[in-house]
Amino acid sequence: MKGLILSGGKGTRLRPLTHTSAKQLVPVANKPVLFYAIESIVAAGITEIGIIVGDTRREIKAAVGDGARFGARVTYIEQEAPLGLAHAVLIAEAFLAGAPFVMYLGDNLIAGGITSLVEEFRALGCNSEILLAEVPNPEQFGVAELTPEGKVRRLVEKPPEPQSNLALVGVYMFDPSIFESVKRIQPSARGELEITDAIQDLIDRGLDVHPHIVRGWWKDTGKLDDMLEANRIVLEGLEVPRGANLREVGQGSRIEGRVQLGAGVELVDSLVRGPAVIGDGARLENAFVGPYTSIGERCTLVACELENSIVLADCEIRDIPLRIDGSLIGRNVRIVKTDFKPKAYRFMVGDNSEVGIT
Ligand code: G1P
Repeated sequence: MKGLILSGGKGTRLRPLTHTSAKQLVPVANKPVLFYAIESIVAAGITEIGIIVGDTRREIKAAVGDGARFGARVTYIEQEAPLGLAHAVLIAEAFLAGAPFVMYLGDNLIAGGITSLVEEFRALGCNSEILLAEVPNPEQFGVAELTPEGKVRRLVEKPPEPQSNLALVGVYMFDPSIFESVKRIQPSARGELEITDAIQDLIDRGLDVHPHIVRGWWKDTGKLDDMLEANRIVLEGLEVPRGANLREVGQGSRIEGRVQLGAGVELVDSLVRGPAVIGDGARLENAFVGPYTSIGERCTLVACELENSIVLADCEIRDIPLRIDGSLIGRNVRIVKTDFKPKAYRFMVGDNSEVGIT
């Protein structure tokens, strides 16, 4: 089997971070979302991986390289415009070369990996296996309607009036019969060739599409709240070797719970309460980092408190009187208290940013 990861798209719902970086590279517990996808495909025994890239091809290639450090061989496939998930399959036909494959949307995170799903697909010998999860907001996803016997009756992309709460998860398995279907379908109202329509076409052709209902957590990390939730879930499962935090943490500082401290982290008069990760070379002084927080590499946090947040690398946060919560802070950002007059808020904030003030 081969792997196909989709890592194009514009990431409009994560602006402004996605003005300068791909959404698939936003970190969850200090690791790009995309890396979780690559690792779980490799863990399932698949090492030939194609990655579909678009406008953000440069950053994706720089981050992933040739795949060697994941134990994989990565081939990049250029998509000239985000023309849809089924279009991505179409342009990957030569790479896939008749092999069955697992297609993984690079902004999706799924608990427990995909090894057992790939095994199930292989054992069943069906034409496609799709994953479904119950969600409270099915109108924002592809939605599946099942028969009383549990077969797939119908799949509709983002229906205004969903017939079930079963969303299509962004991991799909196909045999080569999908190529005929992606060639038969027409672009949707949003102008894209939808994989949902292509799978519906498999069903219309009488082929065998096996639905697997996912019971563990699954997240499509396209939006801020989903990013923060994914970060909470991954940190919840953080395993820190016993005794790891007994190391000298610096004068007046304390670590509580499961905390992963990077190399060269400096703590002065600070408290870190897990689950949390602190990236290499970060410096905390008179700071509190609370549960469900990921602090990127080389950040400087002085006289501030953070919780339930993601802070990317090289940020400086200093002398902030109120706790920062539920925040996603991009690379190289400075949030500092100023003393000059007039006493006022001073912002220099990128396009499409969001600032909340109490
Ligand atoms: C895509 C698919 C949708 C699926 C979702 C999962 O949506 O079109 O069917 O439920 O991924 O993440 P998009 O992210 O393109 O809006």
